Amino acid sequence: MISPDSLFKQAQLGPATPGPGAVSSQDIQKIRRAIREKYASVSQSPAGKFLYPTGRAGAEALGYDLSIMQSAPPEFLNSFCGVGNPFFLGEISAGSAVLDLGCGAGFDLFVARRLTGAGGRVYGIDLTEEMVDRARENLDLAGVAGVEVIIVHSEDIPYPDDTFDVVISNGVINLSPCKQTCFKEIRRVLKPGGRLQFADVVLEGELPAALAGSAEAWSQ
Ligand SMILES: C[S@@+](CC[C@H](N)C(=O)[O-])C[C@H]1O[C@@H](n2cnc3c(N)ncnc32)[C@H](O)[C@@H]1O
Repeated sequence: MISPDSLFKQAQLGPATPGPGAVSSQDIQKIRRAIREKYASVSQSPAGKFLYPTGRAGAEALGYDLSIMQSAPPEFLNSFCGVGNPFFLGEISAGSAVLDLGCGAGFDLFVARRLTGAGGRVYGIDLTEEMVDRARENLDLAGVAGVEVIIVHSEDIPYPDDTFDVVISNGVINLSPCKQTCFKEIRRVLKPGGRLQFADVVLEGELPAALAGSAEAWSQ
């Protein structure tokens, strides 16, 4: 597992001032608009919108705990579109404070709540209003209380320093146009000794020229 400190140090190596690799504020707005548009549609159903399995099949393939999956209302599982399983990376103890960055429709919030128990605290943030609405509906449907979900982007986390034992994230940081700021924010809200457990996708080759400048391609 990579420690938040080392990610923070790597992030510091990136360009501090606009230059090659930096994203202009106009492009940041464009990317966020494209992401909101795409995930407003995904909030209806992720089926057929990704190159990897989503929904129950996706969660099964990623090795989510079967007993927790069985206790989740189908709506949670149907709307799952994570790319990995952040819970593999470390145990979440009862009573922990957990933040899910880019919580989508909330299946990982449900899992986190099961692990922290009623004595813990679970919070979700997401950029897309429709996803936040879906997460709140799903939590209500499952009768899960005590989970706060708010609309905000991951580069401006509205919680005080040293708040969380664990930050989880699943398929979200790759979408951030300001990854340095995102990692700095995660580090800020983690308690000393806290952990970041995230699953994500990385680009291994060069993008075809036709896709390189596309906000829509960024949000795929
Ligand atoms: C691939 S989905 C994953 C959703 C959820 N984690 C899951 O596993 O089902 C990506 C989610 O991240 C949200 N998102 C994308 N960029 C974000 C950002 N910069 N800040 C907060 N949320 C973001 C999207 O709205 C979407 O709900």
